[in-house]
Formats: sequence, structure tokens, C-alpha cells
Amino acid sequence: MTRPRIKVDILLIGGGAAGLSLALRLAENHSIALISKGIIEEGSSYYAQGGIAAVIDESDSIDSHIQDTLDAGAGLCDPDVVSFVVERGKQNIDWLIERGVPFTRQVADHPKSGFHLTREGGHSHRRIIHAADATGRALTTTLANQAKAHPNIHIYEKHNAVDLITSGKLGYSENRCLGAYVLDRNSDSVKVFHANHTVLATGGASKVYLYTSNPDTATGDGIAMAWRAGCRIANMEFNQFHPTCLFHPQAKAFLLTEALRGEGAILKLPDGTPFMKDFDDRAELAPRDIVARAIDHEMKRLGSEHVLLDISHKPAKFIRTHFPTVYNRCLEFGFDLTKEAIPVVPAAHYTCGGVMTDLHGKTDIPGLYAIGEVAFTGLHGANRMASNSLLECLVFAESASEHIESSGDEHFFNVKIPEWDESRVTDSDEEVVVTHNWHELRRFMWDYVGIVRTNKRMQRAQSRVNLLLHEIDEYYGNFKVSSDLLELRNLAVAANLIIQSALMRKESRGLHYTLDYPETNDDEVASNTILTPPKHQLASVGIAASP
Ligand code: FAD
Ligand code: SIN
Repeated sequence: MTRPRIKVDILLIGGGAAGLSLALRLAENHSIALISKGIIEEGSSYYAQGGIAAVIDESDSIDSHIQDTLDAGAGLCDPDVVSFVVERGKQNIDWLIERGVPFTRQVADHPKSGFHLTREGGHSHRRIIHAADATGRALTTTLANQAKAHPNIHIYEKHNAVDLITSGKLGYSENRCLGAYVLDRNSDSVKVFHANHTVLATGGASKVYLYTSNPDTATGDGIAMAWRAGCRIANMEFNQFHPTCLFHPQAKAFLLTEALRGEGAILKLPDGTPFMKDFDDRAELAPRDIVARAIDHEMKRLGSEHVLLDISHKPAKFIRTHFPTVYNRCLEFGFDLTKEAIPVVPAAHYTCGGVMTDLHGKTDIPGLYAIGEVAFTGLHGANRMASNSLLECLVFAESASEHIESSGDEHFFNVKIPEWDESRVTDSDEEVVVTHNWHELRRFMWDYVGIVRTNKRMQRAQSRVNLLLHEIDEYYGNFKVSSDLLELRNLAVAANLIIQSALMRKESRGLHYTLDYPETNDDEVASNTILTPPKHQLASVGIAASP
């Protein structure tokens, strides 16, 4: 039976802030297939709380935002990229306002009052525009509703991209991305999506860790697919841990936004003693790597399962108005933010590394772009500053759209893409292998490649991941693909890239802290950790665009 093929100008894999912005920017002139693993709204973007960093206030400046980003990035940010992103900040916020994202105003519901700007760690000014403490929900639902209504944007939910299709792997001498094989979970079949331009907007890989603030979608699929297709991946050792997630067995690491600290919340030991001043003059508003490490240190020193976050000294009305989501969620677990300190722990939050791109989101493979958390652009360096991520999603969606618009209508639909071959696989009778390996992987990543690392722990992790990769490969070769299997396969690749990168960095810097090399190596120029996949053998047949 021949399966239907979807032919489009643009295949967009991922419907978060990055994917939705790009889709809406390109929809007037192009046909777009936008695929997502769950419903379109499900991804990290939806859960973003604090807001989006941009220079909006007159007393703030581009130079200040640039400097704060460079400081947080611990010597590894690319200054040109930082300037590029920060300078485009305000125009992207204006774009969201024009699209109707309901940002919080200084005076509630007063359309003429300016927007309220909050503060987070590392920022020397109030520059975070937000929609109360549910910025991601406001942004995602606004953009998703417009995407759903657009006749040129075709949304495919419950669709998992399995692997990218490249001409190199089909036997051509020129390597170009031609789309992807996609598992349609509604019909349980793998289809060919054939596209002129393919964009990875698949988010990060924080699910590689046992405890994470991220939704289940964050399994590093885009990074793993790009790696398998032949793209370079950079700086995977810099996985960010958010300092304050709710400590409660049922809370699944629910985030307590950094804006709480921006508005005065204090971190305390279980006996009520504040401790952040002992670690950094900026105390609660130090960059995240410093705060998370300080909490980890105190928890280990005291043998405590958590520390406390206390904003109860602020007026109750202020707390309920500014942080309604966090306030209500904490109440569900029996904690009243207005009256008491809340138990918190760090959890994996953000993947600073990813698929290497240029200023237009272009990867190493022509026809393939990567934008948003999946990408490594050079913006974040060794530690992302709070609320610079949504900004990066927006700016790179804009710049990738400019490049795609200017690259003409050349297409490659004449290239024959074979159907997905399932002739040699059967239904799995051993699902337990997938669940077991999934837990094992996330547990050893947490224990051995977490906030504080050592060579020995990382080598242990390396030998375990090698075994898992082998086992998963064998399983993948014998059984029909399922969403869980695909995610496990990608998590294992992402874990391997994190471990390899972490082992290569012989110093501590930003988010990478190892007891074997506790100092930052200031003698040499700081460099990125770049992993290059093994080269594919390219044949001698060139591809030509269709007439
Ligand atoms: P996501 O929003 O994660 O979207 C990824 C999309 O890709 C999803 O639609 C998913 O289904 C799809 N996908 C993934 N793999 C596949 C596949 N194989 N096939 C098909 N589809 C696939 N940043 C800020 O700047 N400010 C904040 O206030 C903030 N708060 C945060 C709070 C939380 C709780 C979390 C988790 C993150 C927060 N961040 C914040 C970080 C920020 O939200 C993310 O970095 C950003 O939203 C990533 O957007 P994205 O579009 O790249 O990916
Ligand atoms: C938060 O609100 O604390 C998250 C902000 C971010 O990750 O940028």
C-alpha cells in the first residue's frame, strides 16, 4: 500500500514560541506543515512563567542588556550574536503586542498605561515583559489560535518526526535536507513529509534528567535528528538547572518563577536562615548557575531534601495579583505563598547547547534550519540569563523567515524519496525494555552528570550510555517505532552528547562545574565544545532543483 505523501514549502517541526512565530511570519507566501508531538500548545513555551527580556524602559539600554547577557554567559557568549538578539528585542515584543498577546500593564487593565516590567537574576534593570506569571500560556494560545485559523498553515498534532531525510543519505553527492519521516500516531503509520525547507523547532533535552521543570516533550529529538543527519552540535555540557522548583512528591518539579526573587523573595535554609549573601553579593539575583550551585551545596552540607523560598513578607494582594498561577498551584499542594516559606529544589530546566546555526538559523545542512531551544546560536554562552530564551525564539524565527523568504522558490520535489521500510520489523513484545532504560538513563544522568560533576561519575555515565545506545539500536532495528521508543532513542543520543562534551571541558565554567577542575581556565581564550558527527559517504550524483 502506498502511503500519502505531504509536499509543502516548509516543514516546521515544533509548535512552541519558535515554531509558531516562524509559521505566522511565513504563512502569507508559503504552504506550511506544522507538526507537534502532542497538541500544538504542549511544549516548554506554554509553561514559561517569568516573561521575555527586552529593552523597553527608557532608563534601560541595549548596552546594559548586552553586558548582563555576557556576564551571565561566563565568557562564552558570542558578542555579535548577543548584540544581534538584544537589538531586535523591542521589535519582536512589538510584533507580539500587535498580534494581541495580553502583557500585564502597570495599571491593571488600563490600556493607556505602560507595560509592567519585572526583574530576574543577572538583569541589572527591570526589563522582563510578562503576562502575570503565565507569559508562555498567553503567548502560545494567542499565536496557536492564529496559526490554527490560517489557511496556509496545516497543523498535524500527535505526529513525531522520526528522522530527517537528506539527499546525502539517498545517494546524492550534495547533501540537502528534503523533509522528514514522521510517525502519525493517529493512524500508527510513518509518512514522508517532503519539503523545500525543514525547520527544527523542537525545544530542549532537559527530560534527560530525572527531575526537570520541562514538559514531557523535551526529549532532545531535534538535536538527535540533526546529529544523525550530520550536523555539528555544540556546548551540550551546559544544561541549566533552575534553582527553585516546588519540592513535593506529586508536583513534578513545578517551577516557582525567578520573578518571585526579582520581586523580593528570599532563599532560606530549613531553619529560616538566609544564605545567598554568603555565595554572591547579588544574593537571590545572582545568575542561575550560582544560585543552583549554592542550593545544592547547602542541601548536601545539611543533608536536607530542600531549601525554602519566602515571599510572605510582601503584601498578600501583591503576591496574588503578580503570581496567580504559582500561588494557586502551591495552594493545591497545601502551601500558602502569602503566609509561609515554600520548600524548593533545583531541577533541569534549559539546554544551552544544541544544533549549531548562524544568524539566520541555518544549520550545516542546506535546507535545514534550527531555531529556539534546539539551537546553539552563541547567545547564551556557559549560562543562559533568565528570560533570554523566549527572546531568542522570537528573534531567530524572524531572521530565519527573512532568509527563507529571500531564498527563492527553488524546490526539490523531483528527488525520489523511498517509503518508510517496515518489512523487517514486528510489534514489540518487550515494552518493559523501553520503560526500564528510560528510568535508568534519567537516573544516572541526574546522579552522575548533574549540578556538580567529577570525571569518575561522568565516566560511569559514559559506559552506561554506551550500553544503552547499543541496546536501543538493536531494539529499534527489530521492532516497529512508537513514540516512547523514538523519545528514548533521542534521549540516549542527547545524554551521550552531554557526557562527551562534559568530559571534554577540563575546567569549571558557568553551568559546568566539576570537582576535578574547580577553576575557570582564564589562561586561554574560552572556547565552545563542538562535536562533529562521523561523515557520511556521499555518492557522485548531484541533485538538481525541479524545473
Ligand atoms: P518548545 O516550546 O519546547 O516547543 C517544542 C515543540 O516541538 C513542541 O510543540 C513539541 O511537541 C515539538 N516537538 C519536539 N520533538 C518533536 C518531534 N520529534 N516531532 C514533532 N514535534 C516535536 N524562557 C524565558 O525566556 N522566559 C520564561 O519565563 C521561561 N519560563 C520557563 C518556565 C518553564 C516551566 C520552562 C520549562 C521553561 C521556561 N523558559 C522560559 C524556557 C523557554 O520556555 C523555552 O526555552 C522555550 O519556550 C523553548 O521554545 P521552543 O519553541 O524552542 O520549544
Ligand atoms: C522563570 O520564570 O523563572 C523562568 C525564566 C526562564 O527560564 O527564563
